Amino acid sequence: MSAYPSGTSLSGTPDEVTISFDGRQITTAAGQSVGSALVTNGITAWRDTRKQARPRGLFCGIGVCFDCLVAVDGEPNQRACLVEVREGMEIKGSCGPSVHPLAEPEGGRE
Ligand code: FES
Repeated sequence: MSAYPSGTSLSGTPDEVTISFDGRQITTAAGQSVGSALVTNGITAWRDTRKQARPRGLFCGIGVCFDCLVAVDGEPNQRACLVEVREGMEIKGSCGPSVHPLAEPEGGRE
């Protein structure tokens, strides 16, 4: 029997958090990025490009390419690779056209 509540680390922080992605509940490791949480749960693409509707998910994984945009708790155009998961977070893919100038340069990356 552990002295610590089930599902918590020695520091008392939870080992897992539950988030939702497009209404689907996902339980995932605490401390990881939204992008990592989605990929480890089998979700590898969560938006489409504007011009040819090609699927996008993680690409660079370090905040440079803007391929991984999601809406987090109603805030659009968040980079999934840079946002840490939090308990109860609501993630939505298919953010629609991005407003960030670097998200898809003129002519696209397709
Ligand atoms: S995967 Fe490139 S910015 Fe997130």
